[in-house]
Amino acid sequence: MNKFSRIGFIFAAAGSAVGLGNIWKFPYVTGEFGGGAFVLVYLLCIVFIGLVVFIAESFLGQSSEVNVSSTFIKVSKSKNSNWKYGGFMVFAGLIILSFYSVVLGWILNYIVLSFGNLPNSAELAGSGFNQLVSEDIGLQIVFHSIVALITIFIVLRGIKEGIEKINLILMPLLGIILFGLLAYALSLDSFSKAVSFMFSANWSKIDENALLAALGQAFFTLSLGIGTIMTYSASLPKNENFIKSSFYVAIVDTSIAIIAGLIIFSFLFEAGAQSSAGPGLVFISLPVIFGQWGTLGNIIAISFFSALLFAGITSAVSMIEPVLMLFIERFNMTRKKAVIICGSIFYLLGIIALLSMSNAFKDSLTFFGKNAFDWMDFITSSVSMPIAAIVTCLFLGFFVDKQTIQNKFTQHVSIGMFNIWYVLVKYIVPLAITILLLNKLGVIQ
Ligand code: PFF
Repeated sequence: MNKFSRIGFIFAAAGSAVGLGNIWKFPYVTGEFGGGAFVLVYLLCIVFIGLVVFIAESFLGQSSEVNVSSTFIKVSKSKNSNWKYGGFMVFAGLIILSFYSVVLGWILNYIVLSFGNLPNSAELAGSGFNQLVSEDIGLQIVFHSIVALITIFIVLRGIKEGIEKINLILMPLLGIILFGLLAYALSLDSFSKAVSFMFSANWSKIDENALLAALGQAFFTLSLGIGTIMTYSASLPKNENFIKSSFYVAIVDTSIAIIAGLIIFSFLFEAGAQSSAGPGLVFISLPVIFGQWGTLGNIIAISFFSALLFAGITSAVSMIEPVLMLFIERFNMTRKKAVIICGSIFYLLGIIALLSMSNAFKDSLTFFGKNAFDWMDFITSSVSMPIAAIVTCLFLGFFVDKQTIQNKFTQHVSIGMFNIWYVLVKYIVPLAITILLLNKLGVIQ
């Protein structure tokens, strides 16, 4: 059977979790919400909601050893075949992958740019980024195609030969680069400022939007709500301690987000730049700072963007695998055929996403005030991922035999720990997500 090794699973699940969400999104969202207090709220969301759902997905995958759709039928106590629709969550993976691949394409472009002269003013950096996103359609398509081909090439080789191998190579490389960058950040005077920005609580910007952002970020960063963790855990050896590995992954993922934040804020404060620059933070603010550091700046820029690329590729492969496994097992497809179909879908959606930000096509690809790129992000992170998480929790709480779950948990943890997790998964987490979701969709104010 094509299963992960124990260490291969941890690397692959951590590789999935650690991605653009940690190095690109977490720092800029933290910056927008004022630092420390947001970090604290985020950590609470990781521990009390993210980790609970992560363990739930991992339990389901390891118990069933099949694709997401069949998992729901196999584990449910009623064997109601309608549960197969639980498998729908995997399609969100293709939507996320389409715009994720476009952003990875930008990163590839910035790796190439980092070999040359970096911009020496914020205006130049800003206009360079805007030019790429709103005018350079051809260039974006080239880079998006390269990323799509790399992703397809890896998943074509399967779990063990493709996904496990690439994670065993790229994750240590990512770790080395990040520690190098952290060591450099530590040598800067602004490191202490970065620490106090990230760890001293400023509650003034914490409102319901901050809570939602923290929850959404916790889901996104732990790769929850599209069946990735379920699918990877289906290939986790049967007797492995899935609870321990869930903790490992959450710890690695959170540490890397914090480290990335410390690095980026040290760099920003060193140059006297703003921490609240939004999504352009790494594409606009950082290149200007690197540009002031001469050749060392080029080396740091290349390392930084390579780290982002490595982190992103290991996440990209994990977004498509759940759909592949579903197509292979339920529709009896060969891996190759499944990869060609799913690869074409996300590739084309990615082109729509990038066109929707271009000056030439944005009018025709904007609907109800949001362009296609933002819609794809919204539909997945704000709608389908939280709904999938609610369904997963309620399924476990109400449609799976409690004793079966308990037996598996108590092989690894005490009954007390199991009971805490069970109450969280059955009542508290679905309720919390529902309230936040309805709030976000504007149903309750
Ligand atoms: N966790 C990834 C990140 O932080 O960038 C993104 C992601 C990967 C989301 C896999 C969802 C997923 F299934």
